[in-house]
Amino acid sequence: MPPQFEHSTAEWQALDAAHHLHPFTDFQALAKKGTRVIERGEGVWLWDTDGQRIFDAMSGLWCVNVGYGQQALIDAATEQLRRLPFYNSFFQTTTPPAIALSHKLAQISPPQFNHVFYGSSGSESNDTVVRMVRRHWDILGQPQRQTIISRFNAYHGSTMAGASLGGMKDMHAQGGLPIPGIVHIDQPSFALHGRPGESREAFGLRAARWLEDKVAEVGADKVAAFIGEPVQGAGGVIIPPETYWPEIQRICDRHGILLVSDEVICGFGRTGHWFGCERFGFRPDLMTFAKGVTSGYIPLGGVMVGDRVAKVLIEQGGEFSHGYTYSGHPVACAVALANIDLIEREGLVQRVHDDTGPYLAQRFAELLAHPLVGEAETCGMLGALRLVRRKAEGDAPAQPFDAALGVGMVCRGHCFDNGLVMRAVGDRMVVAPPLVMTRELIDELMTRIVRCLDLSWADLQQRGWV
Ligand SMILES: Cc1ncc(COP(=O)(O)O)c(C=O)c1O
Repeated sequence: MPPQFEHSTAEWQALDAAHHLHPFTDFQALAKKGTRVIERGEGVWLWDTDGQRIFDAMSGLWCVNVGYGQQALIDAATEQLRRLPFYNSFFQTTTPPAIALSHKLAQISPPQFNHVFYGSSGSESNDTVVRMVRRHWDILGQPQRQTIISRFNAYHGSTMAGASLGGMKDMHAQGGLPIPGIVHIDQPSFALHGRPGESREAFGLRAARWLEDKVAEVGADKVAAFIGEPVQGAGGVIIPPETYWPEIQRICDRHGILLVSDEVICGFGRTGHWFGCERFGFRPDLMTFAKGVTSGYIPLGGVMVGDRVAKVLIEQGGEFSHGYTYSGHPVACAVALANIDLIEREGLVQRVHDDTGPYLAQRFAELLAHPLVGEAETCGMLGALRLVRRKAEGDAPAQPFDAALGVGMVCRGHCFDNGLVMRAVGDRMVVAPPLVMTRELIDELMTRIVRCLDLSWADLQQRGWV
């Protein structure tokens, strides 16, 4: 190891507290607790600087789809770094990896997608969407079509436009967001918004029609686009009813509104399809991606641009005044090509679809027997458990915990201390394990989850919360 990386955990923590401001963090609270320093990964496993081995059921941050330590990706980066570490795509130039990846993405994405615009993250990609859809309507002589409709509890990134598109109220409360021209409707969460006696299917239609109501309120001639994640990820893995997305599609078609699928989490196999829109049966005009495109080995993001929009931009648009230094970064594109090649060679999308996805669903359903678990849902390699104070009984709905207790964080603490990364979103415990999961690894994950649920249950009993 290079000498600058040789420190004890305590030394790392002191240096980190002195100089490093972490994302989405109470800086002072973290400095008191001390951060955990992760130094190595292999497959689904991580090791911290204390030597503890940790099961990473979150694929880093929903991104390490092929798991850690894949030599093909390391070799692709190394070779490209040697050959040409950077060149831009601005001034009548580009690089072979950027061209090859664009061709490959057009091949693996739904047929309406034949063009791609690159950035380096999900946030940047969603910023590009705002610029692009407004430009699209400008070119078509409808500059009043500016408003983009999104959903509460959505996460579309942390830049000014990304956070505005997102529907996180605590993010909007800092910095005067959302920016003008972005409005929100409620999310299709059956647990939050379903009515007693209502079926999931009927709820899905009702939730989609909130879009129709909002379009009527704003005026259809002023709406540029609707954006949504096929499954809301950071919002707590909210899996919509099957009726939801087809109805959203119908409403967008009826009013000529552009439909944008944020595939930053759902893309590249996570739902058992290459893209989440294919899982839920809708046909977006634009798709944003990041994370899984390189399995997080190096930053890359982008927007797949459907023919409807691409035709307007290319044939009538002239110069599109937008782009980033690292648009089409050659090393990132080379890694993405190796990553997609690996996903194809190992048949990972099919494996999630046919085998590991259904097996995870079966094992998750067993967790409903646990006294803390009120709901257990999966979609491919995404899963969520809702922790409840009392389970539903007969007609009586489940009783949630008081949100102020932070029960999810209590459970997350037990996971952390017991070698398991699960994320808490309120009282929902979520997982997004790598697509290289096998049945044996799913069994191992379940053993760890059950142990952490048992510890949480005993802890909550001791606190008198259950
Ligand atoms: C659905 C979705 N969109 C966008 C983003 C933002 O991506 P990034 O953090 O790469 O900017 C995320 C990040 O978690 C996400 O989950």
